[in-house]
Amino acid sequence: MNKKPLLIRNASQMVTLAGSSDAPLTGKQMEQLQIIENGSVWLEDGVIQFVGKDEEVAQIYKDRLNEAEIIDATGKLVTPGLVDPHTHLVFAGSRENEFNMRLEGATYMEIMNNGGGIHATTSATRKATHQTLFEESKKRLDQFLLHGVTTVEAKSGYGLSLEHEIKQLEVARKLHEQHPVDIVQTFMGAHAVPFEYKENPDEFVDYIIHDMIPEVARRKLAEFNDVFCERGVFTPDQSKRILESGLQHGLLPKIHADEIEPYEGAELAAEIGAVSAEHLLKASDKGIAALAEKGVIAVLLPGTAFFLMAESANARKMIDAGVPVALSTDCNPGSSPTVSMPLIMNLGCLKMGMTPAEVLTAATINAAHAINRGKEIGSIEKDKKADIVIFDVPNYMVLQYRYGINHVHTVIKSGEVVVDGGRLVCANTRIHS
Ligand code: NIG
Ligand code: FE
Repeated sequence: MNKKPLLIRNASQMVTLAGSSDAPLTGKQMEQLQIIENGSVWLEDGVIQFVGKDEEVAQIYKDRLNEAEIIDATGKLVTPGLVDPHTHLVFAGSRENEFNMRLEGATYMEIMNNGGGIHATTSATRKATHQTLFEESKKRLDQFLLHGVTTVEAKSGYGLSLEHEIKQLEVARKLHEQHPVDIVQTFMGAHAVPFEYKENPDEFVDYIIHDMIPEVARRKLAEFNDVFCERGVFTPDQSKRILESGLQHGLLPKIHADEIEPYEGAELAAEIGAVSAEHLLKASDKGIAALAEKGVIAVLLPGTAFFLMAESANARKMIDAGVPVALSTDCNPGSSPTVSMPLIMNLGCLKMGMTPAEVLTAATINAAHAINRGKEIGSIEKDKKADIVIFDVPNYMVLQYRYGINHVHTVIKSGEVVVDGGRLVCANTRIHS
């Protein structure tokens, strides 16, 4: 941890998102970024100590200014560290061959039903050692950091057996311990029905419920439990059984819902009281109303729709209906091999009808709430973790306007500079405690 305090001074815009640690922002609130112009923030002991106008901070710390390492943010935008609340971070191999097949007209589900897709990554991940998985996933985490992401959620789901699900979750835990990016873990044994259970999918559901969930919970390897509720994968009934069983073991429900076809996944998420429902490209109006009523966070993944050449989820309708919306990369080797939350925000504006202010809310405080971290991260406020990004743009609108460019200049994680001038300065070697 930094011995010296760190003072970021004079940002042209300091987007704080203050005042929303208790609940995600909804409706018009999603545009209230709580911006401080000429903003400064004092970071010490890994947390935010004071944020305000530059003259206020300079006055309060006037006797300690020469103790601090000072970063001049003149002309730059400062935001909370970005949060990615839905990734499949830990996997082996690569599926560019399927990308080519899709460009030639094959669909995502056809490829999966013919043994590719999630099955292909499962077989590569089962074969991979802890070490290989660790190294491949660490490279992705470094890339996340370079794009301003300081916390990611990571799902299992490419093991699909107790042994290999645990291997994936253990690798994620080790990465959390050894890499600056914080990782929040989700068990997703119900990501696909593996070949060995093809004829008896209900037996696989029983295996998840009786063997996998209790053991994952006993080893404290996950906080959440997720299911791919989709025609041809897990039915709403099977999904409900799996999510309820997770709840009995303290794992909070999340659900991949209504991604490819309408399947009443949003309705199920509301019924079961899920923390979040993800994808929702095909969510029904009834499902959207149910999410709003129950305060289930919609985690939207416009990169996946873009990469699958599908129509995006209707974020505009969801926000206007009062659903709290968060954004994520869905980083995975099949439907969204990207780590760029800035690009995802661009797509939120360009493909989902969101405003530049809404996408920033969705990638910070609402994303933090989607992984139950609203009190610790996602905004620049006293006592929160000192996770901060400095973008080399003068305001948050330019961040969306100059799209497809990585504008990240500096990243501070737990009070330490980990990216400087757009380069990693210590993530490759540093072990954080
Ligand atoms: O969220 N939809 C299911 N799971 C992932 C894709 C996983 C894969 O194709 O490997 C998703 O899109
Ligand atoms: Fe996913």
